Amino acid sequence: MTRKIVKSILFLLSSTAVIVACKPDPSFEPVVEAPLEFKVPQGWPQPFYNYSNNTLKKEGFALGRKLFYDPKLSRDNTVSCGSCHQQFSAFAQIDHPVSHGVDDLLGNRNSPALFNLNWHTSFFWDGGVNHIENQPIAPIQNPVEMDLQMADLVKKLQADATYRSMFKSAFGDETVTSQRIAKAFAQFMGMMVSDNAKFDKYKRGEAGGAMTPQELDGYEVYKQNCAACHTEPLFTDFSYRNNGLPPTSVNDSGRAHITLLSTDLYKFKIPSLRNLKYTWPYMHDGRFNTIDQVLNHYATGILQSPTLDIKLGSGIILTEKQRDDLKAFLNTLNDEAFIANTIFAEVK
Ligand code: HEC
Ligand code: HEC
Repeated sequence: MTRKIVKSILFLLSSTAVIVACKPDPSFEPVVEAPLEFKVPQGWPQPFYNYSNNTLKKEGFALGRKLFYDPKLSRDNTVSCGSCHQQFSAFAQIDHPVSHGVDDLLGNRNSPALFNLNWHTSFFWDGGVNHIENQPIAPIQNPVEMDLQMADLVKKLQADATYRSMFKSAFGDETVTSQRIAKAFAQFMGMMVSDNAKFDKYKRGEAGGAMTPQELDGYEVYKQNCAACHTEPLFTDFSYRNNGLPPTSVNDSGRAHITLLSTDLYKFKIPSLRNLKYTWPYMHDGRFNTIDQVLNHYATGILQSPTLDIKLGSGIILTEKQRDDLKAFLNTLNDEAFIANTIFAEVK
């Protein structure tokens, strides 16, 4: 408590100092330093991306949010990031097995949910991008997603007075650059932290966190059968594994697409088990609509192959009770507050 007060006094003193120091120069317009705070939830590891090269500011976050929802970022002004990443589905795309981009062109993969991104060590189902600031360029330039070259996007935004003033508030002057676009995106998307599910409250001993006996039994089923890959607290260890899905006609090679190694064939980045209620359909190609279909796959659908993960060699067979308990537990990982949080919603 005292530390907090001391901190606020120091903050007040330092901001007064800035104002005083700036007074002599009447042409100087101070950029309002309104820091946002990125909080690491209690008991979680330090994130991979921590804003050390990208000062978090309210204005940078606001710019990232505007960019995220703006269809101007696509060739024909029809598709925004938010078209494929919808808040009510935890920023996945509900009911779409694969993504739909400009001219309704189809991609090969399911739009993943977006949350807790600062902990990701790589992006996409195959880990093709290894830094959050490089990630947005991929969908913007992808011919079946937004199909706009970065240089053209920079020109488009530079010609827009609202954007010019937002870039100035966020970065100090009106210049639009790809790097600033990327940094604003990281300020917005990185703040999407989902840590308020019932399970989180249970772990923190907070009100609303009392787990039922069935949910606790399900927690044990999860620990024995799923935790090795879908590891707490993020419910993924971000590694690439082959969980035995039979390839479809698309024959998506997964991680091998990036590494060109046959030992990586059909391995995909392990997705989180948080927010499953909102993020169906499941898997890299959205082939399953329900958790029961997923559990049927682990029980009887596993395809044996040289890269199949060793833990899944004989599948995961659960009794009916274990299955029901596990489903009850998975339900405690749904974070209603996250999908309802208006700071991530489109500003109309
Ligand atoms: C046409 C639909 C579509 C649009 C538009 C789109 N995305 Fe995506 N997004 C996807 C798909 C599909 C993937 C998975 C791609 C893959 O794995 O190859 C993805 C992956 C991602 C990921 C990686 C998540 C992870 O778990 O690795 C992030 C972050 C992301 N998108 C952010 C954005 C941003 C920012 C924009 C706008 C600049 C955007 N997306 C526009 C469909 C879309
Ligand atoms: C050997 C590692 C491993 C184990 C063990 C494992 N999974 Fe997975 N899981 C994966 C991988 C890899 C994927 C992504 C596969 C893909 O899309 O190609 C995945 C995907 C999923 C998805 C889809 C999520 C989404 O957003 O699309 C669900 C749900 C899931 N697993 C649940 C479970 C449950 C429940 C258990 C325990 C009964 C379990 N998994 C055990 C590796 C594992």
